[in-house]
Amino acid sequence: MITTTSISHSKPWLGQNEIHAVTEVIQSHQIGQGWRVDTFEQSLATYLGVRGGVAVSSGTAALHLALLALGVGPGDEIIMPSYVCTAPWIATTSIGAIPKIVDIEPTTYNIDPEKVKEAITGHTRALIVPHLFGLPANVTPLQALKVPVIEDCAQTLGATYNGRAVGSLGNVTICSFYATKLLCTGEGGMVLSNNPATLEAVRVLRAYDGKRTLNTRSFNFKMTDLHAALGTCQLDRLQENLERRAAIAARYFSKLDHLPIELPFVPDDRTHIFYRFVLKVAQPLDDLLERLERKGIQGRRPVYQPIHRYLGLKGYPNSDQAFSSTLSIPIYPSLRDEEVEYIITILCEELG
Ligand SMILES: Cc1ncc(COP(=O)(O)O)c(C=O)c1O
Repeated sequence: MITTTSISHSKPWLGQNEIHAVTEVIQSHQIGQGWRVDTFEQSLATYLGVRGGVAVSSGTAALHLALLALGVGPGDEIIMPSYVCTAPWIATTSIGAIPKIVDIEPTTYNIDPEKVKEAITGHTRALIVPHLFGLPANVTPLQALKVPVIEDCAQTLGATYNGRAVGSLGNVTICSFYATKLLCTGEGGMVLSNNPATLEAVRVLRAYDGKRTLNTRSFNFKMTDLHAALGTCQLDRLQENLERRAAIAARYFSKLDHLPIELPFVPDDRTHIFYRFVLKVAQPLDDLLERLERKGIQGRRPVYQPIHRYLGLKGYPNSDQAFSSTLSIPIYPSLRDEEVEYIITILCEELG
């Protein structure tokens, strides 16, 4: 029996392995950035099939340093979708560069390559390409534009595009290990790349200390060994995490397909790892979210608000539609079978 307000929208999946790992770090008296950060960097780089990674304090810090490492500076233009959290916009503006916001594809919710093409100018220095909700963006037409691609894998690890792992496709990749993310360390991020010069630039920018000269372009964006120990445990269990998500997604697909809603669309050339399970509904969303909450299910708008709406811009119909009609329902490894069945029952009642 499910009690009310019992099913949260997301939940960290931390267990005995993580408790042991953190305890071991504390007992070692080496809690700042040390060898465990190196280990986590190497493990994730190996998992994604890239040369190396540099761990930092958040996904936003990773975006910030990735842009700087690519040589982006004041006045340069960075293209990004509107339908994403504000981190890409914040990282871009914080270094004086100019965000160029474009619309998304209506079916995948990812950046629309046609819109990117229209937005390119002589000042464009990089594209920030989030793979949203667990589904890879359409990367091939973006690579053809000959502008560096920053893959934003904050929401997607383990998915493939034309048989290749996301995170290994672009010039630079960033990850987030925030509390709700696939690999959860509380806070954290990483920049990954095949390019040794990019990795070295990020490594230099990450810490202010240990330099011969004062450098205003240095930060304290380091990761601690406590976080890295968690990250390594989480990576060890990522396959299990993704398998449980796939099983829940399969159940949702089979039991919700008769409803007057749009289920997640997965193009043939890619796989979806269901970081989020997002439905397009025809009902007013706020009202639906409230009814679900009353029945003990936390739903969410999967993007808090598209960037163009913060800026008062018009001309982003697909982002507007996604904002007004997409509902994200709980999906995470610790979601129990009876909770999944309860969510299905309530959605059938509320959306049928
Ligand atoms: C697509 C995307 N990019 C970047 C970020 C920023 O990551 P962080 O919250 O770790 O700074 C997030 C986090 O929510 C995200 O979802």
